[in-house]
Amino acid sequence: MSEVETEQSKKVFFRTFGCQMNEYDTGKMRAQLESDGYVATDSPEEADVIVVNTCSIRDKAEQKMHSALGEYRRMKKEGQPVTIAVAGCVAQQEGQTLLDRYKDLDLVFGPDGIPQVRNLVRAARTTGRVLDTDYLDLDNYPFVSDLDPASKGKVGAFVTIQKGCDNNCTFCIVPTTRGKEASRPWDEIVDESRRLVDTGVKEITLIGQNVNSYGLKNPGDIPFAELLYKISDIEGVERIRYTTSHPRDVTDELIQAYADLPKLTSQLHLPVQSGSNRVLRRMRRYYTRERFLDIVAGLKKARPDLVLSTDIICGFPGETDEDFEQTLQLMDEVGFVSSFSFKYSPRPGTPALKMTGKRGEGVAPEVAQERLVRWQTMQRESSAAWAKSLEGGVHDVLVEGWSKHDAGVVCGRTSQFAMVNFPGDLSLVGKTVPVQVTRAFTNSVRGERVSQA
Ligand code: SAH
Ligand code: SF4
Ligand code: F3S
Repeated sequence: MSEVETEQSKKVFFRTFGCQMNEYDTGKMRAQLESDGYVATDSPEEADVIVVNTCSIRDKAEQKMHSALGEYRRMKKEGQPVTIAVAGCVAQQEGQTLLDRYKDLDLVFGPDGIPQVRNLVRAARTTGRVLDTDYLDLDNYPFVSDLDPASKGKVGAFVTIQKGCDNNCTFCIVPTTRGKEASRPWDEIVDESRRLVDTGVKEITLIGQNVNSYGLKNPGDIPFAELLYKISDIEGVERIRYTTSHPRDVTDELIQAYADLPKLTSQLHLPVQSGSNRVLRRMRRYYTRERFLDIVAGLKKARPDLVLSTDIICGFPGETDEDFEQTLQLMDEVGFVSSFSFKYSPRPGTPALKMTGKRGEGVAPEVAQERLVRWQTMQRESSAAWAKSLEGGVHDVLVEGWSKHDAGVVCGRTSQFAMVNFPGDLSLVGKTVPVQVTRAFTNSVRGERVSQA
């Protein structure tokens, strides 16, 4: 058998935790390993290589990776000749500690190892255990351009526009796990978006940890708002989303883009974290609640039907009942249509850890829990009111595929990112059709196709 045939029989299994960056990175690893003769598999039992792409954002996320790893190590102990790799944010954070702790682990590499994944896997399979947590040079950072084979036939796709994060929010581990920020050259972003459109993609989501600080670092780079105009100019791109943006870096030009670019969708995820200026200062977010509300007002002026979602942290060290009331009030003022909300989780090496530990400012877990429940209750009410307001209206829905629950029903999203289910078939996938909303449910709405909006 030739070497190529041997390699072709190799299978790789990916398990991905964490955010859109990790999901995207897994796709890039899949592309690179497939070009090295691997085939991706859905079952870890038949894998020759298992890659666990990990997240470290909260303690719970980190624990999930340890239990997943336990499962795969057991399979190896029971005789499966598998190479086990830990990639991503926990790998970057823990490095050698992981290799020391798990003797049957073969490979540990951080996010900057992804462009070299082929070499790393080869080395781990031939020469033994490998650790790679070096950060790459930021000049000419090698953003991987191969397309994720799994994105074929999909209606929407992610495109990364930057790596790392230069902010220093006091609660956050990301600057440690992903390193300094670098913007990807805009022509590479446009090129990848074009190639995705050629495979049938209609909606491009630009991703990064702080997308709207794109292009601010090097002379000659274009700012984020300008990048949006370039993507909008691509024929075949029908919708543009982006995540995650930071309130600090929302510029007038970005707001103007909502007035100018119909392809830019009417939904924005803008994490506020807290409604209290005192807490925002201690988090080092560099905006006030007043500035946040100004931004929201500006955006709604530019795009009256814009809806917002956000992230909230409950129980940040030193957060008082009064501070938290201000966060709740923000819900009344903005009416977020959805949110991710978390209890503060102390992370290694972050400035907020000192506030919790040495300075004893930690919020009791039961208080944080109670605040979380209060926020989530308000969120449910706000989401339900919004969903209800859609009833009777006709909305353009970009169809994604079969609905998860009912036969003969397809699903898709409106520009505001509402999930709509309506009777239809797969010939509609990738098309945008007008649908009248008939009934609102908790996480989706039901509708009927109509002939025009
Ligand atoms: N770059 C994005 C957020 C990335 S992390 C931004 O700046 O908005 C996603 C979310 O996880 C954050 O918005 C925050 O709400 C939450 N998060 C981050 N660190 C956390 C921690 N230590 N404890 C609890 N939640 C945290
Ligand atoms: Fe973390 Fe702040 Fe960077 Fe977001 S902007 S990734 S919260 S440091
Ligand atoms: Fe998690 Fe790393 Fe993303 S810590 S949230 S996978 S950047």
